[in-house]
Amino acid sequence: MATEMALVKPISKFGTSSPIFSNSRYGKFTTVRMSSTSQSTAKAAAKGGKKAAKTAIKETLLTPRFYTTDFDEMEALFNTEINKNLNQSEFEALLQEFKTDYNQTHFVRNKEFKEAADKIDGPLRQIFVEFLERSCTAEFSGFLLYKELGRRLKKTNPVVAEIFSLMSRDEARHAGFLNKGLSDFNLALDLGFLTKARKYTFFKPKFIFYATYLSEKIGYWRYITIYRHLKENPEYQCYPIFKYFENWCQDENRHGDFFSALLKAQPQFLNDWKAKLWSRFFCLSVYVTMYLNDCQRTAFYEGIGLDTKEFDMHVIIETNRTTARIFPAVLDVENPEFKRRLDKMVEINEQLLAVGETSDIPLVKNLKRIPLIAALASELLATYLMPPIESGSVDFAEFEPQLVY
Ligand SMILES: [Fe+2]
Ligand SMILES: [Fe+2]
Repeated sequence: MATEMALVKPISKFGTSSPIFSNSRYGKFTTVRMSSTSQSTAKAAAKGGKKAAKTAIKETLLTPRFYTTDFDEMEALFNTEINKNLNQSEFEALLQEFKTDYNQTHFVRNKEFKEAADKIDGPLRQIFVEFLERSCTAEFSGFLLYKELGRRLKKTNPVVAEIFSLMSRDEARHAGFLNKGLSDFNLALDLGFLTKARKYTFFKPKFIFYATYLSEKIGYWRYITIYRHLKENPEYQCYPIFKYFENWCQDENRHGDFFSALLKAQPQFLNDWKAKLWSRFFCLSVYVTMYLNDCQRTAFYEGIGLDTKEFDMHVIIETNRTTARIFPAVLDVENPEFKRRLDKMVEINEQLLAVGETSDIPLVKNLKRIPLIAALASELLATYLMPPIESGSVDFAEFEPQLVY
């Protein structure tokens, strides 16, 4: 998985509003734990090693989520006796592709990493760490979900189960590589602790399919766009992890294609009016979450020479075009009204954040938030209600092994 999703739920990979790692490059090695309650932070601190200082990261609506689902329903969906739409030969072809393991030897570090990290200083250093931490959490969230699906579907549909297990292999690799990146900054995410302490968001299987498909495809477009930009503008190549994005994003693309195949095997999730409403809803949720997240961290994107809003709009438009091949309806993101509304949401979100930073008592803060939340909700609704684009196709040819550049 490559992106977080929030709002309703999923997306983004880079970003949070939080505090984060206060230690500097000269500080001690620090283990970072994300916790949902202060109690769990305290417990974590009590259990931790002597050397590691722990820092809790504030959870917000926009932090990467962990997902869980109804595994019994998943089993029924992938039971070939019940679901005659399952095209087993197609899944077997996909499995062969995953078994090929194109990136088996791709994620190998070198000494450039640490040297580059030592040169990143000032505010960019902190924002870099935040990027690594959020990306690692998002990848790790994919690992957990896919691993569990691989385990639970083993009896019902061993082929689909094995693909999930191989995707969890990919996500573990991605998360591990990002966590190694954190070690260049003398930090590490405690993934074992994260697994236990994080709150899990429950999604019915149908919603897992929509959300995860989008998450993988948007992750692909984010990685490839950053990769291409830095290839053309090497003066912004300040940390070598971006050089790995070209092959890395192909993993995300394959994961997305697998979810596309899964959705086609469940036509009831694609072919009625409810499917159209949900498709638009998930597109909105994913795009808005990414846009708001990224606009809170323009320093990161500017630090690598990107214009945050331009970058995001490019990613949204490309993801939406890809998604239109499978979802029965998508948003009209190329209509200028869409971006106007996103920018309005960014303004409201900034005002909301500003309220949080005042010295007012909580009651006053909450009173000040009410009209802003209402304004944000009304923008979201208006964006959702913009005339959509009818889409979708039943062309399975796109699932042939392919590389997208
Ligand atoms: Fe990934
Ligand atoms: Fe992925």
